[in-house]
Amino acid sequence: MQRWKALVTCGVPVSAIEMIRARCDLVADPVEECLPHESLLGHVWKAEGILTCHSDRIDRQVMDTAPRLRVVANYAVGYDNIDVPAATARGILVCNTPGVLTETTADLTWALIMAVARRVVESDRFIREKDRDKWPFNCFLGTDVYGKTLGIVGMGRIGSSVARRAQGFGMRIIYYNRKRVEPSLERELKAAYVNFETLLREADFVTLHVPSSPDTRHLIGSPQLSMMKPTSFLINASRGMVVDEAALLSALRDGAIAGAALDVYENEPHLTPGLGELPNVVLTPHIGSATRETREKMALMAAENLLAALEGKRPPNLVNPDAFRG
Ligand code: GLV
Repeated sequence: MQRWKALVTCGVPVSAIEMIRARCDLVADPVEECLPHESLLGHVWKAEGILTCHSDRIDRQVMDTAPRLRVVANYAVGYDNIDVPAATARGILVCNTPGVLTETTADLTWALIMAVARRVVESDRFIREKDRDKWPFNCFLGTDVYGKTLGIVGMGRIGSSVARRAQGFGMRIIYYNRKRVEPSLERELKAAYVNFETLLREADFVTLHVPSSPDTRHLIGSPQLSMMKPTSFLINASRGMVVDEAALLSALRDGAIAGAALDVYENEPHLTPGLGELPNVVLTPHIGSATRETREKMALMAAENLLAALEGKRPPNLVNPDAFRG
């Protein structure tokens, strides 16, 4: 049976490595962390297929270094780390892992909402800092979530799953999307379509679930933050570039909004200086899909995409069908 040369650039569950090894020779040993970009460039020239993660920059330079490359199987639903037009022009298939991480990312969004509203992280630090004789009675007064207004920006799979959970919190749900969703979905989610400005003005929690694109860059900047209520919170578990972090920092410092919870950053993995010093900000390191169960499913899906493409088949989750010449 024919064997191919593959590169896995990041730590994936063993099951996915075994699946790939059954049909491919790995051009570099499996890693726990992500390969630094220089190492990726040092290995990729040997590979016909690569399994990548969202922090790998797969640009023209990588593709030009890899003349045999036929597929980039991203271990993520987003693929903004890959220059897709450049891949298509070279006949390189790009694949992602949609669907399997929807609920997990919606769960994390809710963890962020609850943590920032109820000051969970600050409280945790307080308890750890030192043993005290007593706790102030009125410490860490937070904000109710139950019964408030949730504003969802981007009503795709993840936004919809966030809305489903909000029903249990008795929330009024408003949403803004490029395109209004089907009336049946609006009914199921009990979500009302409003324009972007209304959402910003009325929501107590604004949660972002849009993909990365030129249209969504700095969707939230100073003008938008100034429309939000001083008692409201901003949650971002989508992509960092959607929020102008410098504007967010000013809004938080000036009290224009009450707090923010972020899983993604404009210059990932770097944080805008000053943001980490604010107590009313909850920060997590891009862990939206990071549960054992979900990462296993994503890795197997990415491996399946990789192998299908190497076999000359159309991979199940192909992002650039124009590149498929099967
Ligand atoms: C994570 O951010 C993903 O796109 O899967």
